[in-house]
Amino acid sequence: MAIVNVSKQDLASVYSAKEQLRNYYSGLKRPIYYYVHTYGCQLNESDSEKLIGTLEDIGIREGNEDNADIVIFNTCAIRENAEDRLFGNLGVFKARKRENKELMIIVCGCMMKVKENVDRIKSSFPYVDIVFDPQQIHNLPLLMLDKIGRRKQLIDISEEDFIVEDNLLSVKRARKFRALVPIMYGCNNFCTYCIVPYTRGRERSRDFNEIIDELKLLAENGYKEVMLLGQNVNSYGKGDNFDKSFADLLRAAAEIEGFSRVRFMTSHPRDLSDEVIDIMSEYKTLETHLHLPVQSGSDRILKEMNRHYTREQYLRTALKFREKLPEGSISTDIIVGFPGETEEDFKDTLSMVNEVKYDSAFTFQYSIRPGTKAANYPNQVPKEVVTERFGRLLELQNDFVNKSNQSKVGLVEEVLIEGESSTAKDILTGRTRSNHLVNFTIPEDFKLNGKLISPSNPASACCASQFEGKLCNVRITHSRPYSIDGVMESIIDG
Ligand code: 5AD
Ligand code: SF4
Repeated sequence: MAIVNVSKQDLASVYSAKEQLRNYYSGLKRPIYYYVHTYGCQLNESDSEKLIGTLEDIGIREGNEDNADIVIFNTCAIRENAEDRLFGNLGVFKARKRENKELMIIVCGCMMKVKENVDRIKSSFPYVDIVFDPQQIHNLPLLMLDKIGRRKQLIDISEEDFIVEDNLLSVKRARKFRALVPIMYGCNNFCTYCIVPYTRGRERSRDFNEIIDELKLLAENGYKEVMLLGQNVNSYGKGDNFDKSFADLLRAAAEIEGFSRVRFMTSHPRDLSDEVIDIMSEYKTLETHLHLPVQSGSDRILKEMNRHYTREQYLRTALKFREKLPEGSISTDIIVGFPGETEEDFKDTLSMVNEVKYDSAFTFQYSIRPGTKAANYPNQVPKEVVTERFGRLLELQNDFVNKSNQSKVGLVEEVLIEGESSTAKDILTGRTRSNHLVNFTIPEDFKLNGKLISPSNPASACCASQFEGKLCNVRITHSRPYSIDGVMESIIDG
């Protein structure tokens, strides 16, 4: 499959389509609304920020499920349940097609790279207007323009993998303080259980200088947190014509003035270099959290999974991180019930959890992904066995999450404020450098810029938006199973 670098000139037809759509929709003489439903990972969220940026550029406004004229489902294929949810949600829109003749239903994302899913849409969901794959986010205006005025379903799945620099597209960031910045696309690892290399194509890195320019611009525009994204960020720059590594990129990002926090995700244990861990300990702006998916603690299963590391190698990296950043945290992904997993293999996973003492973990039951190598492995583990093991793993892991939260009680932690808690008024939420979730209050007599900020005094106009994106010190007072509580002590950057 070819990798194509898309230039500004290549996008001329896309820009022109945008202009034509702008004219078309403004000619309707009523507001046109969009609704974008995003499933899955942060790369999908980042893609949706581009879809939304494009729609807003055309003059389409943010709406909701009920009033939207343009409905986009940006799908995920990583596990079966993500797929089930899409087909469940699509049905609602059928009747609405009769009421609103402008209604355009678009399905994109990883699921659309799986032929069976596209076939199912063709046969059972003829009222879906457009189907396209994750490689073609930039083509949205062309596809929309093509669809207007034609009845037939438009299906466009590309044969190529594209690199389109972010500055050529419109991006509407979901959060005022946080920017998701993909640094590479695709994956070459072909872990035997995983569909991603098939849906997102071959690994390709963005241009180093383009990324740095984008980061500088984000910092100038007041973004405080940046998340560098990729399926395997540590293999950034591997391949032809690159003289920069992920370590170079991370160092350069950490040196940009203006960011309070630089994060990255996901690291492959095979490719994470000691240099990256050293850099994480050197720069104050870098998150002291490492997401290091282990998947299994059994060497035999790791081999079957095609992960290219042993338990010992993984442990060496994890322990090196613990040694260098003792106040930091490690999170992981674990799959339970990979084909052929025996009780002994599973016990190796439990002992891995015991050794690394993960601060948090995403645990998954193995889900057969047709088209992957493991889907054809003969010895699939029975559902009841998987469920039983999964319960044991959760119990053990929850204990470590709890302990990790408890270890913060009594400390003063630097917290990047994300906003008001969704469950309780007058409580702010944010994350420590180690990525612990903190809910905290502001003391009665708290002063900001000489002004009294008091949650109980409405005249002080204490509201979450004035704190969003700011760094503050929080004294941690309590721990809970999945978060910690505290009281703000001071604002670091006012
Ligand atoms: N079944 C269960 N979990 C999976 N993951 C990826 N593919 C599968 C699958 N087929 C998990 C892995 C990966 C995370 C993003 O999703 O743990 O790290
Ligand atoms: Fe999937 Fe493995 Fe690539 Fe991660 S590294 S996206 S698990 S194939």
